[in-house]
Amino acid sequence: MAIKQLPPHLVNQIAAGEVVERPASVVKELLENAIDAGSTKIEIDIEQGGVKRIRIRDNGKGIPKEELSLALSRHATSKIASLDDLEHVASLGFRGEALPSIASVSRLTVSSKTEDSEQGWAFSPQHTDDGQEDFVEPEPVAHAKGTTIDVRDLFYNVPARRKFLKTENTEFKHLADVVKKISLSNFQIGITLRHGQRSVLTLQPAKDRMGADRRVADICGPAFMEQSLYLDYEAAGLKLWGWVGLPTFSRSQADLQYFYVNGRMIRDRLVTHAVRQGYSDVLYHGRHPAYVLFLEMAPEKVDVNAHPTKHEVRFREGRLVHDFLYRTLHKALADVRPNVDSSQMDAPDLPEQANHSASFQYTPTQQNLSIPVSNNNSNNPTGFQREQGGQVAEQMAVYGRMHESPDSFQRSQIGQSKLPPLSEDFSKRMSAQVTASMPVDSSQETGQVPPLGFAVAQLHGIYILAENAEGLVVVDMHAAHERITYEHLKNSMYEDTVRSQPLLVPSSLAVSQKEGDCAEEFANTFEKLGFELNRLAPEKLAIRAVPSLLKDSNVEQLVRDVLSDLLEHGTSQRVEEEINEILSTMACHGSVRANHRLSIPEMNALLRDMERTERSGQCNHGRPTWTQMSIDQLDKLFMRGQ
Ligand SMILES: Nc1ncnc2c1ncn2[C@@H]1O[C@H](COP(=O)(O)OP(=O)(O)OP(=O)(O)O)[C@@H](O)[C@H]1O
Ligand SMILES: [Mg+2]
Repeated sequence: MAIKQLPPHLVNQIAAGEVVERPASVVKELLENAIDAGSTKIEIDIEQGGVKRIRIRDNGKGIPKEELSLALSRHATSKIASLDDLEHVASLGFRGEALPSIASVSRLTVSSKTEDSEQGWAFSPQHTDDGQEDFVEPEPVAHAKGTTIDVRDLFYNVPARRKFLKTENTEFKHLADVVKKISLSNFQIGITLRHGQRSVLTLQPAKDRMGADRRVADICGPAFMEQSLYLDYEAAGLKLWGWVGLPTFSRSQADLQYFYVNGRMIRDRLVTHAVRQGYSDVLYHGRHPAYVLFLEMAPEKVDVNAHPTKHEVRFREGRLVHDFLYRTLHKALADVRPNVDSSQMDAPDLPEQANHSASFQYTPTQQNLSIPVSNNNSNNPTGFQREQGGQVAEQMAVYGRMHESPDSFQRSQIGQSKLPPLSEDFSKRMSAQVTASMPVDSSQETGQVPPLGFAVAQLHGIYILAENAEGLVVVDMHAAHERITYEHLKNSMYEDTVRSQPLLVPSSLAVSQKEGDCAEEFANTFEKLGFELNRLAPEKLAIRAVPSLLKDSNVEQLVRDVLSDLLEHGTSQRVEEEINEILSTMACHGSVRANHRLSIPEMNALLRDMERTERSGQCNHGRPTWTQMSIDQLDKLFMRGQ
C-alpha cells in the first residue's frame, strides 16, 4: 500500500499523544518501522547516548522517492486506510505520526531505495525560522535496497525537553533495553547495536528453536535459559508460547518479564495478574517470576489503539485471556517434577468455549528435568537396583505410615494453636488418599531406573544421595517431603468442595450495587469455595457460612477482595490462596525434620513419591528440592579423561 494521508474522521479515532520522550522512544519507533518494512537485517548506530545521533539502517522494502516527503507528514501512513483496517491492524505502526514527530524535534534525514528504483534518494525536511516546513526536493544518494533514518541533535530546538534527559549512559541503557525487548520478538531479524565505535550487541538471525534459544540466552542470560521451560499451547483461538522461568529461578525484581501480544511488547495489568497467579503456590515469598512469553490471537480481538505508545492494549475478551494464561502456566508449572515426559503432558483444563484439540508441546529445557530413563540393566554398573529392589516395596508402607498418616500430622501440631485441628472426616479422607497413593515400585517389573534413581545414603540427616542413570541425585529431604505432604493435603481438601461452616451470627457486608450483582452472578463459585452469601438489599450482603479452615480469618475483607477480583478478571484464587497457606504451614510441621534418620527403603519411597507429585521440583516456599550431578560433571571435578 502507498503512503496516504488519513482522512480526518480516522485521525480522530487514533489515540493521540506525544511519543518522543527520549532517545529510547526514537529507537523504538524507528525499529518498528524497519520491522513493518519486512527487514531481515537492522544496524543501529548510536552516538552520545542517542542525543547526538541515532542512525538505523534496514534492508526492508524501502520508500519510493515520491513518497518520501509524505512519510514525514502528519497522519500519513501506508499501513491503514480505513476504520476496518484499524480494527484489524497487524503492523506495529498505524498512526502515521512517528517520523513527523521525530523530524520536528531533531535534524532528520531519510535515505531509501526500493527494489524497482535504480537510484536511492535522500530527503531532509528543512524548517524556516518560524517552524514552518520549507519545501525541498529529494537528492540522489548511493543506497542499497532498504532505508536509513539518521536522527541528529535530538531536542536541539526544545531545550525544555533536553533538560529532562539523564546522563548519556542512562539514556543509552534505556535505549539498549528497547533494542533487546524488540529483538526478542523478532528472532528472524539480525540486529547489531553500536555505541560510538563500540559494538554492544550482535544478534544473528535465528532460523530455528536452537537459534531462538541462543537469542533468549544472549538477552536474558544463560542461567534463565537453563532454568526455564519452553511451552507452546493453543486453544480457543489463543496461542501462548515462549519460555517460563522455573519457580526456583525467581528474581528479587520484576525485571525479567517480557510479554508480547501479536509481536508487540506490552505492559498490562490483566496479563501480569494472570501470570502471577499461574505461579501461585510455587514461588518463594516476595519473589518475581521470569518469562519471555508470546500471546497470539486474531488482531480484531485486541485493541492496540488504546494508548499512543501502544504499550497498553485492550482485550475484547479479557476474562477468557486471563483464564487461558493462568491455566496454561499453572498446568505447565505443576508438571515440573522429575519424570515429566512431554508426550504424556495433559492439556490444562480450559473453560467450556476452549477448543481442546490443540496440541500442547512441552519441552523441559532444564537439563536435570529430562533425565534419560534407561531400559537397559547393563547401564547400571553397580547392579544396585536389583539388590535393593526386593526390600523396597515391602518397606514402603513403613515410610507411608511414618510420615503421611493423619496421626503424625495431629501430633506434630500440638502447640500450634493457630492451626485448626483436622476434622475426623478430613483425616479419614486423608488417610484413604495416602493409602491409595502408596508407592508401588513399578520400576522393578520394567527393569528401568526411575528418574530420581535409588537411594544410596543419607548425609548429615539432611540430604538423600541417590544414584540414577545420569549420576548422582541430591535431595533435600525436608523440602521434598513438605511439598509431597502439601500436595496430598490440597488434593484431599479440594476433592469435592471445600468444607463449609455456618456462622452463628451471620455477618453483614455493605457493598456496591455492582458488587452485589456480582455476588449473585457468582453464587455457585462462592458456594464451591465454602461460602454462603445472601443478598439482603441491593447494597447489602449477608455472609452465612465460611470455609471452615478460614473461620478465624478476616472473612469480610476476603469476600470483598474476591468480589473485586471477580469484577475485574472473572476469577479469583484468593480463597484457595488463604486455605493453601494454612495447609502449607500444616505440611511444614507435618513433614520429616532434618536429623531424622531414614532407612534406604524409606528414602526410596520418598523418591518415588516425588516423581509422582505435582510441583515436586520446589518446596512450598519455592526452594529447589533436588539437584542432579551427572557423571560428566563429576568427571570434570576430578579431571578424569582430560
Ligand atoms: N524503515 C522504513 N522502511 C519502509 N517504509 C518506512 C520506513 N519507515 C517509515 N516508512 C513509511 O513511512 C510511513 C510513516 O512512518 P511513521 O512511523 O511516521 O508512521 P507509521 O509507521 O505508519 O505509524 P506510527 O506513527 O504508528 O508509527 C510508514 O507508514 C511507512 O510507509
Ligand atoms: Mg511507525
